Amino acid sequence: MKALLLLPFLLVLSSFHPAISNTIPSFNAIVSFGSSYEDTGNIAILAPTAPAYRPFLNPPYGETYFHHPTGRASDGRLIIDIIAGNLGFPFLPPSLSQGQDFSKGVNFAVSGATALNHTFFQQNNIRNQYLLNTSLSVQLGWFENMKPSICNTTCVEYFNKSLFMFGKFGDNDYLYMLFSGKTIDFVNSSVPLVVDSIKSAAERLLKQEATQLVVPGTRPNGCMPVILTYFASTNRSDYDSLGCLKVYNNVAIYHNALLSDAVKQLRVEFPQAKISYSQFYEPIIDFVTNPYQYGFTSGTPLRACCGSGEPYNYNLIAGCGQPGVTACPNPSSFINWDGVHLTETSYDIIANGWLNGSYADPPILAL
Ligand SMILES: *[C@@H]1O[C@H](CO)[C@@H](O)[C@H](O)[C@H]1NC(C)=O
Ligand SMILES: *[C@@H]1O[C@H](CO)[C@@H](O)[C@H](O)[C@H]1NC(C)=O
Ligand SMILES: *[C@@H]1O[C@H](CO)[C@@H](O)[C@H](O)[C@H]1NC(C)=O
Ligand SMILES: *[C@@H]1O[C@H](CO)[C@@H](O)[C@H](O)[C@H]1NC(C)=O
Ligand SMILES: *[C@@H]1O[C@H](CO)[C@@H](O)[C@H](O)[C@H]1NC(C)=O
Ligand SMILES: *[C@@H]1O[C@H](CO)[C@@H](O)[C@H](O)[C@H]1NC(C)=O
Ligand SMILES: *[C@@H]1O[C@H](CO)[C@@H](O)[C@H](O)[C@H]1NC(C)=O
Repeated sequence: MKALLLLPFLLVLSSFHPAISNTIPSFNAIVSFGSSYEDTGNIAILAPTAPAYRPFLNPPYGETYFHHPTGRASDGRLIIDIIAGNLGFPFLPPSLSQGQDFSKGVNFAVSGATALNHTFFQQNNIRNQYLLNTSLSVQLGWFENMKPSICNTTCVEYFNKSLFMFGKFGDNDYLYMLFSGKTIDFVNSSVPLVVDSIKSAAERLLKQEATQLVVPGTRPNGCMPVILTYFASTNRSDYDSLGCLKVYNNVAIYHNALLSDAVKQLRVEFPQAKISYSQFYEPIIDFVTNPYQYGFTSGTPLRACCGSGEPYNYNLIAGCGQPGVTACPNPSSFINWDGVHLTETSYDIIANGWLNGSYADPPILAL
């Protein structure tokens, strides 16, 4: 009787199992590049005392998941942490940490990093306390230096099974330009340069045996408290129906259109590679449009959880992580964590949308 009951169950299991193992790719390592949306501890090693970055190392950063600051610019885990976990990997060690095993994964992302080289900012007289010489191209140099200790003579086979992830590059470039007084037309005219530098970096990586790469677009800067606060307008027609500043979102739309075209060109150039274009713009707009659907029940979707100042709870000189500045009691009811970065809840929804949903083309699990 028992055996008879068990039989159909076993049949179901055995007919499902091959399908599942086919759909989950088995990566042997994850290699990540990026900025503060991806940094799992490099800035804490590189510039622990820099006034710009010190707040990231103070509570309440990290309060939700780690229960202490880790250098991650959120209340909890980042997209890269959630993707690594869902693919069966431990958290990726920051590349600048000592005595780590990097053979299963490594994260070269550094908060504040840009797509454009440092010289671009020097030549255009763009200064910013967050600006360091840690561009995407510098991070690729770090990767190339580390390569012999990861795979040496077996890199072709090794990287054939590795997942390479670019972070969200471009937003820092645009913020540094805007905060140094460059016009929106200057920013907009730099978009092709920024996208070209991401494309060149992808080419540099794909030429060295990388075969699976994720390339994300930028966020809607016009919906971020940092822009809404410092570039506020008295002209109501500068805002869209969500309350976001239109021109800054239009720069992101332009960037993302050029970048997704660049990804299409890369697929032609490197036919053996699988390249996913993943989104930040669309999920954030979805969250702001239908916050309750995603559990963002704060009632103020454009407001940061942690910070000070009205109406967006953002103030650069009294920001999250600075003395006396507090976080909202329930970060998971907020989209935005500190005015620039998102809450773990937002990152979790985006990460799952990249792995197995509609926020990446193709989804990572279909690579
Ligand atoms: C940025 O730096 C890299 C490495 O030094 C170099 O290959 C690349 O040409 C530079 N890009 C620009 C736009 O100067
Ligand atoms: C940035 O760092 C790279 C790599 O270490 C170096 O080659 C370059 O000269 C530096 N650029 C500036 C402007 O300091
Ligand atoms: C790479 O492999 C070669 C040949 O096996 C060996 O001589 C060399 O020391 C290795 N390098 C590293 C960094 O492991
Ligand atoms: C890379 O992996 C694919 C299957 O995923 C396989 O067809 C191909 O032969 C592999 N190439 C190398 C150089 O290992
Ligand atoms: C407000 O902005 C719109 C376009 O965004 C412009 O046409 C209009 O002239 C502006 N109004 C004022 C009072 O500046
Ligand atoms: C940015 O430049 C592109 C291409 O010239 C143009 O289509 C777009 O309208 C511009 N956007 C803004 C916000 O100026
Ligand atoms: C992918 O998403 C579908 C639908 O949400 C779900 O049924 C499936 O279990 C997911 N697969 C993995 C491997 O996460």
